[in-house]
Amino acid sequence: MFKAVQRELSWGRFIKVVIAHPLRNNVNSVTAVTSLNATSSLIHKFSTHSRTMKAKKFVVVNHFVNEAKPTDLKLVEEELPPLKNGEYLVEAEYLSVDPYMRPYLQRFPVGITMIGSQVAKIIESKNPNFPVGKRIVGNLGWRTHTIINPSTNQDDVLQQQPYVLPDIGDLPSSLGLGVLGMPGNTAYFGLLEICKPKPGETIVISGAAGAVGSHVGQIAKNLGLIVIGICGSDEKCKWLTEELGFDSAINYKTASIASSLRKAAPQGVDCYFDNVGGDISSVVMYQMRPFGRVSVCGSISSYNTDASSLPKSTILQPVIVFNQLKIEGFIVTRWADRWNEGIIQNLRWIREGKLRYRETVTKGFENMFDAFIGMMRGENVGKAIIQA
Ligand SMILES: NC(=O)c1ccc[n+]([C@@H]2O[C@H](COP(=O)([O-])OP(=O)(O)OC[C@H]3O[C@@H](n4cnc5c(N)ncnc54)[C@H](OP(=O)(O)O)[C@@H]3O)[C@@H](O)[C@H]2O)c1
Repeated sequence: MFKAVQRELSWGRFIKVVIAHPLRNNVNSVTAVTSLNATSSLIHKFSTHSRTMKAKKFVVVNHFVNEAKPTDLKLVEEELPPLKNGEYLVEAEYLSVDPYMRPYLQRFPVGITMIGSQVAKIIESKNPNFPVGKRIVGNLGWRTHTIINPSTNQDDVLQQQPYVLPDIGDLPSSLGLGVLGMPGNTAYFGLLEICKPKPGETIVISGAAGAVGSHVGQIAKNLGLIVIGICGSDEKCKWLTEELGFDSAINYKTASIASSLRKAAPQGVDCYFDNVGGDISSVVMYQMRPFGRVSVCGSISSYNTDASSLPKSTILQPVIVFNQLKIEGFIVTRWADRWNEGIIQNLRWIREGKLRYRETVTKGFENMFDAFIGMMRGENVGKAIIQA
């Protein structure tokens, strides 16, 4: 039976809805159904082929310096032209805020639409391969409506063309941005291909209560590993151990990672899935066993800091050499040719009750910036999502 845990947090002028989807019993999930943001009905509904369509989008006004500021982005309207043959028009349903946006944005000039992915519904089409009513997942940026031409559409961020969301039955389409999308594939490939985990081994995951980390821990648990998570609150620790089956969890803000880890893994650590980098990672690596493997997925602890002012590195070479560690970074699009494999396997685990997920949903396209900053500050549990 579905046991929805729903929590509402007041947060300035918008409200976040945290939704747990306990799917061990293979039950349906729910989506946020609060009508909190009347102003989000900004979308001009559209029904005919000769229409005026206005998109809203966030344009980058300044590159971020340290933590992003609301004034770094500007919400503007853009009138969209009629469709040409081969094109289709989509309306954003759910948008994603992800840590990579912070460092990646610096590579692009100001004036571009803020980068990001979304699940969008096709509402008009002059392309038979993309019929009205289907949903796509695409790196279209922070915008409500987009015209896509599959033959010319260029995604400079992840180099991935929009694709039709696979059939996920009664599950919410927002999962195409999380457990059944890029973060889900990051967990799947980044763990299996880089760490190559074996039953009975011990794995540590940093950023453990986020989209990628919470997923990695569950796969590792399914494979028979001892799973230790590191995250930023007691509430998150509780979720990991009491609901997701992690063997233990460490709150890095209040506990000593070194001594907590020595207790949780007296035998040492075989695999480390690194989402955060910095001091946390150095401490973990010094407790690794011979022939340990480190999957370097991200380093969010450094994202708000200018590269030139980052601290000098901790000396890790002794432990890498003497314990013969293997450390490998990756970008998930390395497995672009196996993208569906990850989605299908993660969907199977959800259906079998072996993979649970949670979303922190912010209502209203206008609130994207707040959702982004909230995620960077650790206010999300599981995947941070915006419902347009
Ligand atoms: N390589 C790839 O292809 C790839 C793909 C996707 C994601 N990633 C990386 O994977 C990591 C997790 O991404 P995600 O989408 O799953 O995000 P997420 O974990 O859902 O959200 C980010 C989390 O990072 C934690 N955090 C923020 N500042 C921190 C700090 N200074 N030290 C430690 N933790 C901090 C916060 O949780 P706490 O409350 O625990 O602090 C926050 O909730 C990121 O580094 C991201 O760049 C890499």
